[in-house]
Amino acid sequence: MDYFNYKNDEYYAEDVAVKKMAATYGTPLFVYSQQTIKHHLNTYIKAFGNSGHKLCYSVKVNSNLSILKMMVKMGTGFDIVSKGELQKVIMAGAKGSDIVFSGVGKTTDELEFALENNIYCFNVESYPELLNLQKIAAKQNKQAPVAIRVNPDIDAKTHPYISTGMSENKFGLNIDEAIEAYKFAKNSKNLKIIGIDCHIGSQITTIKPYEDATDKLLNLVQKLKDDLDIDIEHIDLGGGLGVCYDDENPPSVDIWINSILTKIPKNMKLILEPGRSIMANAGILLSQIIYIKKNKNKNFIITDSGMNDLIRPSLYQAYHKIIPAIKNSGEKITADIVGPICESTDFSGKNRNIQCQPNDILVTRTVGAYGFCMASNYNIRPRSAEVMVDKNSHKIIRHRESIDDLIKNEIIE
Ligand code: LLP
Repeated sequence: MDYFNYKNDEYYAEDVAVKKMAATYGTPLFVYSQQTIKHHLNTYIKAFGNSGHKLCYSVKVNSNLSILKMMVKMGTGFDIVSKGELQKVIMAGAKGSDIVFSGVGKTTDELEFALENNIYCFNVESYPELLNLQKIAAKQNKQAPVAIRVNPDIDAKTHPYISTGMSENKFGLNIDEAIEAYKFAKNSKNLKIIGIDCHIGSQITTIKPYEDATDKLLNLVQKLKDDLDIDIEHIDLGGGLGVCYDDENPPSVDIWINSILTKIPKNMKLILEPGRSIMANAGILLSQIIYIKKNKNKNFIITDSGMNDLIRPSLYQAYHKIIPAIKNSGEKITADIVGPICESTDFSGKNRNIQCQPNDILVTRTVGAYGFCMASNYNIRPRSAEVMVDKNSHKIIRHRESIDDLIKNEIIE
């Protein structure tokens, strides 16, 4: 469900024609729909009810400060993976008690900063990290709240690059190692065990892997109680629900959450760390056609957005729908839609049938997650602007970069 649609052959973000925004702000341009983001957040909030479960939006997915601030206002918590993300959510007004910290490579500086800010939980991913956190907590004369990230060795049946819960992945500890880590934490006065955590992957489109992961974690929770008298307050079940890019048919948020909640004991809290399912279809990328090039065997539509703006097609062969901002303009053509970057992997769509002509605006759909946040300055291309639409109003939420922004840290002698 989203608030992007054609009205009389012209494409709209909520009540604003996208062509108008391309003319106002230039292209390439990321455009987000506030109503779509709110709709998704409310679905999660409603599915959780008043049960004290925690929704921790995964900041890596889209970390624009305006978006984070809107989430703070709606009462969302945050899953962060770096000091930078923590600084941004604090800037947006988040409380430490609403933040969980994931990631395999948390540095001493990052752990210190997070502990100073009294975050809710450290999702610890290795034994050396646990030792480091214990030392830091002793120095700050505090108890660091911890959950051990367990790698449940479950195939989430997603793209191999975004699968995280199999034994060959770098994330978390296997069940035996996790038990040892819990033993260590129980005996340390500077660590406080509060939870258990896992993350099995992203863009997951069936419920079964979550059910399997929940079962494995709950078995471990029972074992920790029986063998070590350890009480676990919360289960943080990472593994993001998939969205529809092409013809995928993921379960709805409430069906998914209910299938997990029925398994969890009444006195245990659930934490979820969704990102894609909140942001993906709340964002589009507008680009302008520079040239249409017809070679002997192949046609190319060359746009002003490239793999530096949206890397998902190049990196994961990801599919995104690409449609014209105005229907029935120009000629029907089958072509690869490519960018200006000097790489053959710089495409946003292969063999697409589309009707368009030079200077037309194209819309790449479902790019609100892992879109702008993965953009780069490759080929010295300033990153695009970002705009938020709310019904019939629109405002810039990030200015387009300038060449000066790109070179300001360089030294010329
Ligand atoms: N929590 C943790 C610990 C994660 O590693 C991730 C994503 C999430 C939460 C959010 O998962 P989501 O709800 O978005 O599925 N760049 C790739 C996706 C990488 C996912 C990394 N981890 C892409 O564009 O598909």
